[in-house]
Amino acid sequence: MPQENMDLEDLEGIGPKTAQLLKSKGVLSVRHLALFNPEELIELTDMTPDRVEKILRSARDIVFGSNRVSRATDLAKNFEGITRLKTNVRAIDELLQGGLEPKAIYEFAGEFGTGKTQLCHQLSVTVQLGQDKGGVGGAAVYLDTEEAFSPNRIINIAQRFDLDPNEALDNIYVIKVVNAADLEDRIKFDVVKLVEQANVKLIVVDSIIALYRAEFKGRERLAERQQRLNYILDWLMRIAKVYNVYVVLTNQVLDVPMGYIEVKRPAGGNVLAHAVTHRLFLRKSKEDIKVMEVLDSPRLPFKASAMFRITDKGVEDV
Ligand code: GTP
Ligand code: MG
Repeated sequence: MPQENMDLEDLEGIGPKTAQLLKSKGVLSVRHLALFNPEELIELTDMTPDRVEKILRSARDIVFGSNRVSRATDLAKNFEGITRLKTNVRAIDELLQGGLEPKAIYEFAGEFGTGKTQLCHQLSVTVQLGQDKGGVGGAAVYLDTEEAFSPNRIINIAQRFDLDPNEALDNIYVIKVVNAADLEDRIKFDVVKLVEQANVKLIVVDSIIALYRAEFKGRERLAERQQRLNYILDWLMRIAKVYNVYVVLTNQVLDVPMGYIEVKRPAGGNVLAHAVTHRLFLRKSKEDIKVMEVLDSPRLPFKASAMFRITDKGVEDV
């Protein structure tokens, strides 16, 4: 068993009583523990700050190693070796330089009907395929804030990729989320549990912004909204990095005045802009063609784009 999967009791500084306390609060493993920051753990367990610092330090040493310095050449090699998750839409996978990379957050932003939800459904299926078919042989968790999840769509997409539809459905864990606090709990505990115990490799949040827009209304609550949004995005990134999983968010757009015209921009302001790794903007083109365009990314070329269409079989090349 890899060290990071080791039991809480085996961690230096944790006795059976503390292990029991942590488990009763939903902390599953040393790896899970290493995701928490001191304030969060104090709030969760009422332990003293000194004790929490000590426990977290030994958890981090196990999970990340006590030597945290790497040569850039090694990092570059690691990056070459990553497994990419494909949408199996050729144009989109090319745009993404081979598919989605793990340990990163992808955002699909666009107005209604641009294919955000369809892409999330497709990835929830392709993640289950073997590596030779563009997948990673994993399961998906679909955090559904808009009642958007459709089992029928999964069945259609699964058939297209020669997967048993029932198995495909079995490998997608759908969590209905009702408000921001609920989303935080689901991500910090339920999602981590599925990642650790049910081979979940893809985390979908469809959509990230709806809950926050509905809950924190008005300018006077904007700062609070952004803070809460930042908090959950930070947790998603922690999970992505520690567990080497793929994360996809959908986002709505706003009309922003630019001189005499209005342009569509992703909602969520600077917080979302900074938190996501790759921002993809979806829009409708002529007839039934849709376009995905790179809006911001450390690696993908700005403004590069791919065309796709949505059919009865899911998302397809034009
Ligand atoms: P919002 O969630 O409303 O912001 O939109 P979205 O971007 O998530 O849109 P979604 O991914 O749901 O895409 C909707 C598009 O997919 C519409 O144009 C639908 O016509 C199309 N679509 C959805 N289901 C099917 C289907 O079973 N067959 C076909 N041919 N098209 C479908
Ligand atoms: Mg949608």
